Amino acid sequence: MSTVITGNCRPSFFPSQFNRNPDRFLLRPFTVPVFTRSSTPKLRVSSTAFVETQPTGPVVEGKEESGVANVLACPICYDPLTRTGDSPLCVGSTSGSKLQCNTCKKAYFGNETHLDLVASSGSKQYDESMPLATEIFRTPMVSFLYERGWRQNFIFGGFPGPEKEFDMAKDYLKPVLGGNIVDASCGSGMFSRLFAKSGLFSSVIALDYSDNMLRQCYEFIEKDENFPKEKVTLVRADISRLPFKSSSVDALHAGAALHCWSSTTTAVAEISRVLRPGGVFVATTYILDGPFAFVPFMRTFRQNIMGIAGGHIFLSDRELEDLCRTCGLVDFTCIRNAGFVMISARKCS
Ligand SMILES: C[S@@+](CC[C@H](N)C(=O)[O-])C[C@H]1O[C@@H](n2cnc3c(N)ncnc32)[C@H](O)[C@@H]1O
Repeated sequence: MSTVITGNCRPSFFPSQFNRNPDRFLLRPFTVPVFTRSSTPKLRVSSTAFVETQPTGPVVEGKEESGVANVLACPICYDPLTRTGDSPLCVGSTSGSKLQCNTCKKAYFGNETHLDLVASSGSKQYDESMPLATEIFRTPMVSFLYERGWRQNFIFGGFPGPEKEFDMAKDYLKPVLGGNIVDASCGSGMFSRLFAKSGLFSSVIALDYSDNMLRQCYEFIEKDENFPKEKVTLVRADISRLPFKSSSVDALHAGAALHCWSSTTTAVAEISRVLRPGGVFVATTYILDGPFAFVPFMRTFRQNIMGIAGGHIFLSDRELEDLCRTCGLVDFTCIRNAGFVMISARKCS
């Protein structure tokens, strides 16, 4: 077990350094600790997809899939999906595509913007409730505003900003460059697009539960003339039921999302399942410590908030380390800046 500390250990919750001089913040190395240790209100959910359990087109039995199609699996059985036709599954080609589970025979469909791979896709009568922390991002208004002001406010919680966060994530992802990456809970695809344009990964799967966020991501990509569309697949899926084969993913990034997931344990367990041995998990979230550590009944307060809104409020980086370890991930590290934390862990080889 090793502990590396690259700066002072005192987490400063208010990003006063940033406010005074943002450039200085971006240029200097982080002076916050890096630890390396081995170690509700409910809204209605509906889906526009439909269930079909009998194949309607020529399903090519036993066809060897490659690229993204080789990673995708049924979110119910976790067994491989067979594609009808040969059209690629990248941005701009998903409309009309059909994937069928070899085991339960459920069919999943693509629309103009994305593949719908949630377990409930195709339900006609059944409506599911998701916690507010998930549902709020499904609204057209929040999805539209997300990259047009909403995300920018995260700097007040200590988030360094997308470019800096991207650079930091790239450092953690060095061992898996050239492989595939899932940008989980990608929102409008800010990081998915940076990963694709960097050319550092063979393919990028931009995944989110919100159809409206995926639509925004699609529109941003469409507006960018030189975007490498063939590198990116947009997938609607639930982080608690990932539509990927076990041990098939080289890297999974989740920006500003851990605190939105209704069960972080189930989600991180799923991430651990889909990562290949040695695969890397990188994520950012908030930690409510600093002055908040002195607030009495903080844990009770957290339980109440989580009960109402869903999501999770982290109170220390040790909690995140424990979460990763509990779910079978090792070599936990983290970088702090005020309430912001970037964590990394890997699936043991
Ligand atoms: C704050 S946004 C983060 C977007 C982006 N990754 C970033 O760094 O700005 C959180 C995202 O988590 C997604 N999300 C919430 N619950 C989810 C779930 N159960 N499965 C997948 N994504 C989920 C939301 O739709 C939303 O787009």
